[in-house]
Amino acid sequence: MKEIKFPLRDRDIPRYFYNILGDLPKPPAPPLDPRTQQPIDPSALSAIFPHALIEQEVSGQSEIPIPEPVLEAYTLYRPTPLVRAVRLEQALKTPAHIYFKNEAVSPTGSHKPNTAIAQAYYNAQEGVRGLVTETGAGQWGSALALAGIFFGLEITVYMVKISFEQKPYRKSMIQAYGAQVFSSPTDRTAIGRKIRAEQPDTPGSLGIAISEAIEIAAGSKDVNYALGSVLNHVLLHQTVIGLEAQKQMALAGDYPDVVIACHGGGSNFGGIAFPFLRDKFAGRRIRFLAAEPASCPSLTKGEFRYDFGDVAGMTPLMQMYTLGSDFIPAPIHAGGLRYHGSAPLVAHLLHEGLIEAVAYEQNEVFEAALLFARTQGIIPAPESSHAIRAAIDEANRAREEGKERVILFNLSGHGDFDMSAYDSYLSGKMM
Ligand SMILES: Cc1ncc(COP(=O)(O)O)c(C=O)c1O
Repeated sequence: MKEIKFPLRDRDIPRYFYNILGDLPKPPAPPLDPRTQQPIDPSALSAIFPHALIEQEVSGQSEIPIPEPVLEAYTLYRPTPLVRAVRLEQALKTPAHIYFKNEAVSPTGSHKPNTAIAQAYYNAQEGVRGLVTETGAGQWGSALALAGIFFGLEITVYMVKISFEQKPYRKSMIQAYGAQVFSSPTDRTAIGRKIRAEQPDTPGSLGIAISEAIEIAAGSKDVNYALGSVLNHVLLHQTVIGLEAQKQMALAGDYPDVVIACHGGGSNFGGIAFPFLRDKFAGRRIRFLAAEPASCPSLTKGEFRYDFGDVAGMTPLMQMYTLGSDFIPAPIHAGGLRYHGSAPLVAHLLHEGLIEAVAYEQNEVFEAALLFARTQGIIPAPESSHAIRAAIDEANRAREEGKERVILFNLSGHGDFDMSAYDSYLSGKMM
């Protein structure tokens, strides 16, 4: 019998977040103040973020200690499993070793609590009463709703309209944790009212929901904004994934040739990839692959330039791969990947040729999702299934080339709340 699980103990949870900013061969371009076009003074962000997170956003320190209360909350579900997908390998008849890090075991079913818990903690430490946020598929909104309970914060979530309709149980989950949730665009904000008047049938977008949440936070003294991806500090918190995976790969006696994750705003990609990028900076040969939807191809088809992170232009200008901040993606089922841009850190790495990106159509993603479900037993989130598609393609190439190859991908979430998407695929109705 092959060993397929490489368990760590509670005490093996990483004690620090890995900050790639400190180790980059060339620094990324700074965020700009849209009014002056000059690098933004970080203190300008203090209307919506706590000081600790602003400091992390610009810190050059490679290892940032994880506070004890955050570690305690992580022990509810971390360390997460690293599993060798032998049944998938057998089905593909590939010589490749396929490993996946299973972030779906968190209480809300994805990697999102890793940063939700940290963000809630730092905000509570600075006396903030509540947090307001956006959510695409609902994974981030439910994670922040849970984290709010741990640290006594009131949570309000603006959920992209199409997901609010496609995933009603994510909404119920957010409410079960005691948070408020609204279908975005709403008539609670000026930007929401404007978009509803101009485009009454809009499916909504993460860019719109972000604008609504920032508008509320900017207008309130004791309510801050929390972002589920894109920003440096969010990717930083997610590095607990890659740091654990490094220890587990060592237990498995393997080292990845390629690390794969799906890409929406870039946080789970950064989370698994950045600790391994540190190895690459130290001279190791390793590839990195970000998988995104063909209908929202920011990394593969976007322009590398400064753009806003939201529709209303309320964020600083950030250098990223972008489809344009007013781009409304098609209503695909991978709601968490419907974002016009990318994390500036991921964009910088792609621009520097340190990582690669690939885009997939929805049907080929669901084909991969079903093969994974029917071999490994886990029904993956539509977002994560982009990474599975990429891992399967790599494994098939290894078979064609007759080469052993070690593939590691991040299973960023399960799809138990996405059954309407599976329904649509299985009944042949998927576009
Ligand atoms: C399960 C899952 N995976 C991935 C993502 C994409 O986000 P990111 O690119 O920030 O990891 C999301 C976003 O909601 C998600 O819910």
